Amino acid sequence: MRLTVIGTGYLGAVHAACMADIGHDVLGVDVDTERITVLSEGRPPFYEPGFDEILNRALASGRLRFGTELRAAAAHGEVHFICVGTPQQAGSRAADLRYVDAVVDGLVPHLPRSCLVVGKSTVPVGTTARLNTRIAGLVPAGVRAEVAWNPEFLREGFAVEDTLRPDRLVVGVSGREADETLRRVYAPMLGAGVPYISTDPSTAELVKVAANSFLATKISFINAMSEVCDAAGADVATLADALGHDTRIGRQFLNAGLGFGGGCLPKDIRAFAARAQELGVGPAVEFLDQVDAINHRQRTRTVALVRRLAGGDLAGRRVAVLGATFKPDSDDVRDSPALAVATALHRQGAEVRVHDPEGAANARRAHPELRCGSDLLTACRGSDLVLHLTEWRQYREVDPVELARVVRTPVLVDGRNALRHDQWRAAGWAVKALGRPYAPAQPSDAQPLDAQSRNALRATIVSPATGPSPVAALSSALPNGQA
Ligand code: UDX
Repeated sequence: MRLTVIGTGYLGAVHAACMADIGHDVLGVDVDTERITVLSEGRPPFYEPGFDEILNRALASGRLRFGTELRAAAAHGEVHFICVGTPQQAGSRAADLRYVDAVVDGLVPHLPRSCLVVGKSTVPVGTTARLNTRIAGLVPAGVRAEVAWNPEFLREGFAVEDTLRPDRLVVGVSGREADETLRRVYAPMLGAGVPYISTDPSTAELVKVAANSFLATKISFINAMSEVCDAAGADVATLADALGHDTRIGRQFLNAGLGFGGGCLPKDIRAFAARAQELGVGPAVEFLDQVDAINHRQRTRTVALVRRLAGGDLAGRRVAVLGATFKPDSDDVRDSPALAVATALHRQGAEVRVHDPEGAANARRAHPELRCGSDLLTACRGSDLVLHLTEWRQYREVDPVELARVVRTPVLVDGRNALRHDQWRAAGWAVKALGRPYAPAQPSDAQPLDAQSRNALRATIVSPATGPSPVAALSSALPNGQA
């Protein structure tokens, strides 16, 4: 089938390449000429595992081209997918739909034949109905066009896999014709047994925001438990494991830590709350305000913890931040919890060095005031504290003995609860993670601390206002007999 994919960000570029890969003839369109140039040359404009290969395979097949003209898109497609961004409006929680509207306005007047326009972007419920009214006044005489919605559930880092092998397909259509067209588009997936839910447009739009709201709620739930664990001296990781064994709850999305970020969950729950208010049912989703507040509190909790560990004053303290992206296996730094913490520490006078395997360039662009690089040892050399804020696999594989040799004091804050604390402690590190008890270093002959480091460790660590004192815990980090 002849498809167009309009908007070639993380969602659109991957969708375009995957649709070509399953045999469609695809034109990808974007207003960003530089992006179109690099995509046409087979160079991914962002980091996404597996995308490079599928992009180049699709280009080589001759079934994928890119351009900047909506007129050309109108001429090409039987089905037009809208994949542009729906960011949060400045000064409001609501979604900004100007890019979606601009695509419809730029495309529909040029349609030479009847076709289906399919939105994939995350939009407020009611958008499809509004756009169907809008296109009625734009569509050329003799041409029939319908807008349907087919929300996308792909996760960054798994975008190719999620597009080729989605766990479900949801389409919101007004009639049988649109449903049959979408069944043809997704025929290989349907053949592979992917569940296909065909419903009305409003329900389809809601599935997406409801799914993201549920995921965000799950994360904030476990982070709220982590706050309680910190106050009670309990362990949120064990709590999550125990809860997760209950199949009604499940273990996924119960990883406590710094919370969620990125281009989707934060803005989607706010847009949902704003839309519910417009619909007169604001109180029904008021809990999302709490979800958002709990999520942000993890950032301030982490900054407060680091300040405490640094003796109450961050001025001149050297802090290594491991991770800049909002999640691993992506170079996306939009609303990154790691960068939010890094910039807050920087503002409070810490000398912050950020490391990220793929996101350092984007982090530098977003925060030129921070030092960001992709060499781990350089970031950690001479640091008073190491913060693990994005759970890249590289950090799980790091040798804590080797890292202990380059830092000034071996103190780790695991903001993602993803490192093997026993291994780090055995290598001489004192470890603190949100929602888990202080873990003193175990006496080790791996890396005896010199006198300067010992004194620095003692000097930097002070008691928190409440809870168990890290002084005692961290003092015992010192190798036997060296205190
Ligand atoms: C999300 C949805 O998962 C996806 O279905 C939708 O299409 C787009 O939004 P994505 O933004 O790629 O995908 O990230 P996701 O994997 O959902 O993680 C979101 C954030 O939550 C990340 O910052 C991650 O670190 C955090 N997270 C996730 C936790 O803090 N704890 C968890 O247990 C899981």
